[in-house]
This record gives sequence, structure tokens and C-alpha cells, in this order.
Amino acid sequence: MNGRQLVLNKNAAVRFQRTNRIITRVLVQAPVRGGSLRITSWAREENGSLVDALAPLANGGDLIVSDKTTLGRFTSAGLLVDDEHLSVPVRIECPFEETYLDCEAPSALDEAWRLNPTVRFPLKERTREGLARVIPSQESESYRGLALARSTVPLPPGVSWVWFEGAATGWLSGYSVASEIADQLQGLSEQSTDLPLNLHPAAQAGLLVHDGAYAERRARLESEQESVAEVFERNRYARIPRLLEKPLADALKLYYRALVNEGYCHRGDNQVANRFTLHNEPFAILLHEALTPIAARLARQALKPSYVYFASYFDEAALEPHVDRAQCEVSMSLLIDYKPLAERALSPWPLIVKRPEPDAPEMFVNLSPGDAVAYRGCELLHYRPALPAGHTSTSLFLHWVPAAFEGPLD
Ligand SMILES: [Fe+2]
Repeated sequence: MNGRQLVLNKNAAVRFQRTNRIITRVLVQAPVRGGSLRITSWAREENGSLVDALAPLANGGDLIVSDKTTLGRFTSAGLLVDDEHLSVPVRIECPFEETYLDCEAPSALDEAWRLNPTVRFPLKERTREGLARVIPSQESESYRGLALARSTVPLPPGVSWVWFEGAATGWLSGYSVASEIADQLQGLSEQSTDLPLNLHPAAQAGLLVHDGAYAERRARLESEQESVAEVFERNRYARIPRLLEKPLADALKLYYRALVNEGYCHRGDNQVANRFTLHNEPFAILLHEALTPIAARLARQALKPSYVYFASYFDEAALEPHVDRAQCEVSMSLLIDYKPLAERALSPWPLIVKRPEPDAPEMFVNLSPGDAVAYRGCELLHYRPALPAGHTSTSLFLHWVPAAFEGPLD
């Protein structure tokens, strides 16, 4: 006995492929806390005894392992883990009621107050196809174990999400909202003056706006966006300070830290070994959609999202000079987290961009969490030097293509 109590990893997704009702292959995706997502595939042809050992799981039975070799294979696949390596579910939370708890309520909610006209409820407005992109159907094949956190929208039960643009200092705000509050907000007509008291923090958050102040803020935001669009047109890249409102930026920092720490990410990819990654992570898909009108305004063209990539760099990772593929006609690199970094400081690890003209200079772009840089990745060479020792840097890369683009989006 080595003293380690092994349990079935309840976060693992186990998929059974069958031919003529016979299980021919078993695919396992298992997050391992403190490590990374392990992906293993066993075919009956090579590993018949492992496939047979897993078969009871397909019918809701227990996994019974009687020999050491099988135990070893299931442990290295992350299917069996000890307590220390069992991941906890990761959820994103950003309740506006808590952020603005200490704020004074507006003096009166008169007829000049209304729902911010840019408010969107991404989960309520989704089409069937759109929802399927975030929550893959599991009906077609048999699965055992809970779906991975990355295959469902990671909000706590009974909680929905709201996006809106430019009500305070950032360009995009997002909050988690109890579903009944979301219903109340959605039901507000422009003339409504009968607002429940618990919606006062909504006014502070910018979900409810006061006509005069909102018009002023909106005009300021539009001129800010216009200046960035001009820079983007001239240089094919532009910094976007405060793309995200601070509460949203803070919530994303905690959420993605937890996804990495709980082992839900892949370790390395074919471009960089020392980074944790996720392709089209469900919450990032929602953010990507919310940023699409902003990206289109900056690029002055109709765009649609292609894919979004999460990467958290560690151990002196570097990014070799490259241009991107066609799916990245307009891109944003959004800084989520950098450690160590003082509050409001710029990250010391630049993204370096270089226009294709022969004598174009290298331009160094440094960001704070919540800031982004937009760039035409297919045209501009871009790269990063080695990350300073002991530092980590976490970003989302959001990519768009022209609305008429017909190629694959992934
Ligand atoms: Fe790139």
C-alpha cells in the first residue's frame, strides 16, 4: 500500500465508440489538479483488456480494477486520482450587486432612467446552433462522468450573464446576474419607472442609464473608439486601453487562474511548449461574441468571430516571429493576468509587432490586465521575447474574419 486513496475522477469525460454495439475505442479527457488536461485513447485492437475494464462505466456501473498494470494506466490517464489531484468545478462570478454594494443609490429613478440600450443577455438570446457551439451535444454518444468544465457554460446554477457597452470607463462590461434579476431587467420597458429597490446597484453598474449622462458617456466612448480605429487603419495595430471594465477584468483573472490551477488546460501546443491552452473555451466564446461589434467598429468592416484561444505562458516561454492564418484577419490579444504585477502597472513582457514594409520598425506593445491590442495578424509579423524568469502571462487571442468569409472558422 502506498497510502494514496485513488478515486474515479468525476470530472473526466469518457466517450465510448462502438461498431455493431461492440465498444471499439474509449476516449478519456481528464483534468488533473496541479497538472493539466490528460487526453488518452485506447483502441480495442491494442488495448482490449483496458477497454473491457472500462466497459461497465458505459452502462452506469463501477470501475473495478484488479491488477497493477491497469491501475497504473488509468492513473496516468487521470481517470483515477487521489484527493489532492481531484479538480473542483470552476465557475465565473461577477455579481454587480456586490461590486456596487457600498455605492449610494441614485437619488431617484425617474423617467430619464432606462435599461442601457446595449444590454445583451447572451444565454437567452442564443440560437439552437449557437448554444450547441458552447454546450456540445452529448446525446449522440454515451458519456460517463460529469462533462468537463470546458464543455458547459461555467456559471453557477440559477445564474445568467449580461453584457453591455461603455457605461463607465471601460468599453465592455459584463456581470453575472441571478436569473430572476435578468428577467426583471429584460422586462423593463423604456418608460418603466417602477423599479424594484434591488435594481439600484444596477444603475451604479451602468445597466440602467440616465439619459443625459449616458448620452455624454456614449459620445466620449464613440470618439475614443474612433481614434483607436484611425490608429488601427494607419498602423494595422492599435492599443485598446481598458477594453474591459475592471470588475469584468478581475473576474476573468480569477476564473482563468482557477482553470489553470485545477488542471483543465492543455499543456503546450505545436507553437509553444511552455503555455497552458484552451481552444474555444465556452466563456471565451461568449466574450468573443460580445466584442464582435467593437472589433467591427475598429476595423470598419463587417466581421464574424472565427475562434478564440486561451494561453497562459510560464517558464520563460517565447513566441517565435510569425504571421497568422486566414482565420485571424482581425485579432485582439487581451491581457487577462500577469504575475508579478503591481495594480494598474503595465506588463513588462511586450508583444512586438512589425509591419511588412522593409524598413518598418519593431513596435513594442505593453498592456495592463483588461487592455488589449488589436492587430491584423495575417499582415503583421508578431512575436514575444522570452518571458522573464518566474513570471506568468495569461491572454485571450480573439480572432475575426470578414462576414463573407467562407473558409473553416476553427
Ligand atoms: Fe499569432
